[in-house]
Amino acid sequence: MARPPQTVLLLAALMVLVTGVVAAVLPQPQLQLRNVAEPDVAADSFYSSFWNDGTAKVKYTNGPQGQYAVDWSGNKGNFVAGKGWNPGGPRAVDYSGTFAPNGNAYLSIYGWTTNPLVEYYIVESYGTHKPCSSPTDDATQKGNVTVDGSMYEIWTKIRKNKPSIQGTATFPQYWSIRTDKRVGGTVHTDDHFKAFVASGLKMGRHSYMIVATEGQDSNGTSSIVVGVAPSST
Ligand SMILES: *[C@@H]1O[C@H](CO)[C@@H](O)[C@H](O)[C@H]1NC(C)=O
Ligand SMILES: *[C@@H]1O[C@H](CO)[C@@H](O)[C@H](O)[C@H]1NC(C)=O
Repeated sequence: MARPPQTVLLLAALMVLVTGVVAAVLPQPQLQLRNVAEPDVAADSFYSSFWNDGTAKVKYTNGPQGQYAVDWSGNKGNFVAGKGWNPGGPRAVDYSGTFAPNGNAYLSIYGWTTNPLVEYYIVESYGTHKPCSSPTDDATQKGNVTVDGSMYEIWTKIRKNKPSIQGTATFPQYWSIRTDKRVGGTVHTDDHFKAFVASGLKMGRHSYMIVATEGQDSNGTSSIVVGVAPSST
């Protein structure tokens, strides 16, 4: 029995469709390879991270190379955003820019290690609240270290069932808090890591490390360039 013309047409249409789908799927890997090889993409070797608790109203803008900007409002919620490296680790971190919070916020070299899982902050500047400074912070001071032109206070506290790079977990936070606040300079992270370890605060394998803007129930702006030290005045 001969096929009715509609069925032939339908089959032809199906074959065109299938050929089209196969053609659309196959070249994809080659396209991706070309994208990776583009010079402007390759030159931008910075890692960026933007975490939002879902209630913070925040606009994070990734610029070229080490630039980023954050604009947040609403005085509600928590976010951490910035650029750096993955993995992080011992490094002379140059950065410059502006940090203008209203309320509670931190400008830090911020990162994580695994095994043990640790969240750490090397705080360069902050808003109204000096981290770890109030009894409700439930933090313990472990020592002090003088590095890069200022004393930093070493503190630790435990985070119970909080968000982490390994999902909700219980883990320690390590803090190194600059007593002479600044926005811009060079941070020798290894000196802080050594101070943590010397204070009995064990570190693990480095995950990402960024020059982070964090806001908590606040508003403000920051505009940071990672990899560039401030020009001397
Ligand atoms: C920003 O935060 C400050 C300090 O909490 C507050 O006084 C001010 O009203 C806030 N501004 C806006 C536009 O929300
Ligand atoms: C850190 O330095 C401060 C201020 O100089 C001092 O009061 C404090 O005792 C020191 N803390 C430790 C644990 O060394």
